[in-house]
Amino acid sequence: MLFRKGITVIDIGTDSIKGVKFKRKRGTLFVDRIGRKSLPYESIEDGYIVDEAAVGNRLNELADELGCRSSKIITTIPNNNLVIRNMELPYIEDEKKMAEALKWESEDHLPYPVESAVQDFKILSRENGRAQILLVAAKSDLIDNIMNVFERAYLTPTVINIQPMALISLVEYQNHIENTVAIVDIGNSGTRVVIGNNHNIYLFRNIDIGGFEFTRIIMEEDNLSYIEAENIKKKNGLPEIEGGIESFELAIEQIALTGLGQSHMLISQARSLADQIGRSLDYYEMKFKSPVDRIYVTGGGAKLAGLINVIRQEIGRELFLLDPFLNIGYRKGIALTKEEFAIAVGLGVSEVLEDEG
Ligand SMILES: Nc1ncnc2c1ncn2[C@@H]1O[C@H](COP(=O)(O)OP(=O)(O)OP(=O)(O)O)[C@@H](O)[C@H]1O
Ligand SMILES: [Mg+2]
Repeated sequence: MLFRKGITVIDIGTDSIKGVKFKRKRGTLFVDRIGRKSLPYESIEDGYIVDEAAVGNRLNELADELGCRSSKIITTIPNNNLVIRNMELPYIEDEKKMAEALKWESEDHLPYPVESAVQDFKILSRENGRAQILLVAAKSDLIDNIMNVFERAYLTPTVINIQPMALISLVEYQNHIENTVAIVDIGNSGTRVVIGNNHNIYLFRNIDIGGFEFTRIIMEEDNLSYIEAENIKKKNGLPEIEGGIESFELAIEQIALTGLGQSHMLISQARSLADQIGRSLDYYEMKFKSPVDRIYVTGGGAKLAGLINVIRQEIGRELFLLDPFLNIGYRKGIALTKEEFAIAVGLGVSEVLEDEG
């Protein structure tokens, strides 16, 4: 079905809600309106919206600004507890029975009981009575929680998609990927690594260091409020590494020796994040014996000055900033920020790709 009144995508992040209203113009996606609303500190914890009233209010305001009440609403769920796995099962013709079989098989892969999960799957291929399957599982109460907040804003999402799929779809739409790519979304509450191509998602990892981790260090070290620490982080970025990247190791040692506690902690946290990203890439390449073609970076956390350089240095690979608006038309004069909107644009793209089959 084509969406005559347009589609609107809402991505509720722990730092802000992003909304994009799309139209279709000459067969391509066109960004009609875009908006972002900051959320109060700690209104979302461990993926759960704890302050439903505050988030509902912000969502309501955003919906008014976008003028999206009569469009098709698409949203996403947080990455907490999201499980994406490649599995092999005996092939069963009947989809319902297949889902049932998968439910039993997936038990070992979930960090929570199957009864409290919502599952979906895609058959990737079939051979000799066996099926290769992509399993997606999420905690059902997370979905209830999000739906409550939408209800408070008088909105009814008709599609809920997962963020890794949105990111892969975006790159696929823009670059017609054949080879496998990695996308690193450095958000507020965490960083996600997605490795996939237009057929499959091979790996999905949730790393618990995101933009907030750097704010937290500044809050604790300088005894500052969240807002104060947030401002300092955005203004200063990571501490400079004197002598450039070449003397990185040396600089780390010096920082440690001179006892600059906060600088040291910020840099080590950045390195720890880089190290975990690198390990995900290495793991994929070892397991599938195939290289990652390109690594894209996105998410507001990627704006932390110096962070991308630290990651590059640590993992020794080139990184590309993902531009969600590449090959996508948009209304003249609207303010676009690349880092924050990849998920939202990707959700829209994913819907179009689905539409076109
Ligand atoms: N100029 C900047 N310098 C440093 N950090 C920044 C800058 N701009 C935004 N950030 C950080 O980016 C993060 C927000 O990014 P993003 O909008 O991608 O997160 P989110 O989607 O709300 O969070 P999550 O996906 O983890 O729930 C915050 O931690 C914020 O401090
Ligand atoms: Mg996010």
